[in-house]
Amino acid sequence: MNGINPNAIRAFTSWVLVLCFWLVANFGFCQTPKGNAAKGYEALTERAFVPGQFPRSQIDNAWKLWGLSEKPANYGQLFRERYGLSEAPYPNKGLPMGLKASRMPFGSDGASLDCLTCHGGSLLGESFPGLGNTMLDLQAIFEELSTKGTKPIRTPYTFSNARGTNEAGATAVYLGGLRNPDLSPRLPWRNLGLHDDLCEDVPAWWHLKRKKTMYATAEAEAASVRSIMQFMMHPFNLTSAFNREEDTFRDIQAWILSVEAPKWPWGLDSGKVSRGEVVFRENCSRCHGTKDHYPNKVIPLDEIGTDKTRYAGIEPAFGEFYNQSWFSKERNGWFGDGYKSQRSGGYQAPPLDGIWATAPYLHNGSIPTLEHLLNSKTRPSVFTRTFRTNEADYDRVKVGWKTISPAEGITDSALEARKIYDTGKSGRGNQGHTFGDGLTPAARGDLIEFLKSL
Ligand code: HEC
Ligand code: HEC
Repeated sequence: MNGINPNAIRAFTSWVLVLCFWLVANFGFCQTPKGNAAKGYEALTERAFVPGQFPRSQIDNAWKLWGLSEKPANYGQLFRERYGLSEAPYPNKGLPMGLKASRMPFGSDGASLDCLTCHGGSLLGESFPGLGNTMLDLQAIFEELSTKGTKPIRTPYTFSNARGTNEAGATAVYLGGLRNPDLSPRLPWRNLGLHDDLCEDVPAWWHLKRKKTMYATAEAEAASVRSIMQFMMHPFNLTSAFNREEDTFRDIQAWILSVEAPKWPWGLDSGKVSRGEVVFRENCSRCHGTKDHYPNKVIPLDEIGTDKTRYAGIEPAFGEFYNQSWFSKERNGWFGDGYKSQRSGGYQAPPLDGIWATAPYLHNGSIPTLEHLLNSKTRPSVFTRTFRTNEADYDRVKVGWKTISPAEGITDSALEARKIYDTGKSGRGNQGHTFGDGLTPAARGDLIEFLKSL
């Protein structure tokens, strides 16, 4: 230390500390605004972010397309069951959760989709905002409600092929093709790689707080507010609407981060739970983490072996559009100007909190229960379910929704055909993720008991 003056070291250190403090205060964390969860819930449940898509008169008269001769007394209930919507657990002007009263482009009464169409599910008969809606028939909603008549309309691409899943990715790709990077409208439509067979199962919102990257393929940053605004690309929303609503969506994101996983409502065998935890640690936690630590791992497609259609179905052309566009230019302090999407080469091993409540499983909803997931030889290749979520519809042993073998001959209408999940169809493969196959039945039973406790 000869020759170095300790006072100079002290002075230098304090100078560095002051500089760091100033940088952080001016450009770092302090610049990232925080959302307000309560305001976010208000926005989610009270506001429409796209102009009316469905005339109110059609919502009130859709029974005319159902082959009925008069309006049934329990119309509201039949309406919810046909389209896979639940009662709104908040005031919603007589509409179910997932439809929001709004004005049609020329001013008449109408309704729009909102986030809860897909992200508002139902569990044991109770509506549950933040749980993926695995009952939804989005194709029927567009065909039968966006008309003003007694014949279903033809949609420009398929909104859902298998009931309970949807083609949200295709919607982003289709609508992105009508925008320039600054989100001003463009014509003619540009094909950014439209595929409508990705068969997406909607993830539960309570996972977002644990994730660094989001979507099944982990190709977007979980912190991005603008990414979840892609839903607003309705052709009538101008660029100014996106800028105006960014703070609202920050609030919505804050509410999403506050959603908690539901607890298994029945008894658990604590001996089995602790034995199951050991099985989990030995076979599963290298990818899925533990209760306290979530590793955010992406597993390459060939290693996980699950259906690749979802991964391949969002093409680099869309990624390039996204990365040039307003969506990726979110300001985030001094060290970066946005959240770019990136190719990941695989699927993210999701957190497993509340996994009992989010059947069916995998990114494409191809596996009805945990028992089937963890014993691949037993997975059904064609199945249907009641599309209700009461206790009677839930399988507490296999853990997931009860399956029914489809009766012959009920596939004559497209609506009935969508209720049948056929794993032989494109995007719906149920292969891969065979990590439970080598377990003994006893170890698998213990593991499932542990998974119920998460
Ligand atoms: C048409 C159905 C649909 C609508 C409407 C919708 N989403 Fe989603 N959302 C999905 C699907 C499907 C995924 C999963 C996509 C994938 O990875 O394949 C998803 C993923 C997400 C994720 C990432 C979750 C995770 O853990 O990776 C967030 C956050 C999200 N949506 C927020 C929203 C918000 C906010 C809205 C309303 C502005 C909204 N979504 C509207 C279907 C929808
Ligand atoms: C090599 C990494 C890896 C291992 C080991 C692994 N998983 Fe997974 N797991 C994944 C990935 C990746 C996915 C998502 C795959 C997809 O959706 O295509 C997944 C999906 C799941 C899902 C479905 C999640 C949902 O929301 O649909 C469950 C449940 C699950 N794993 C449980 C387990 C259990 C239990 C074990 C141990 C027997 C295990 N995993 C072992 C990587 C792994």
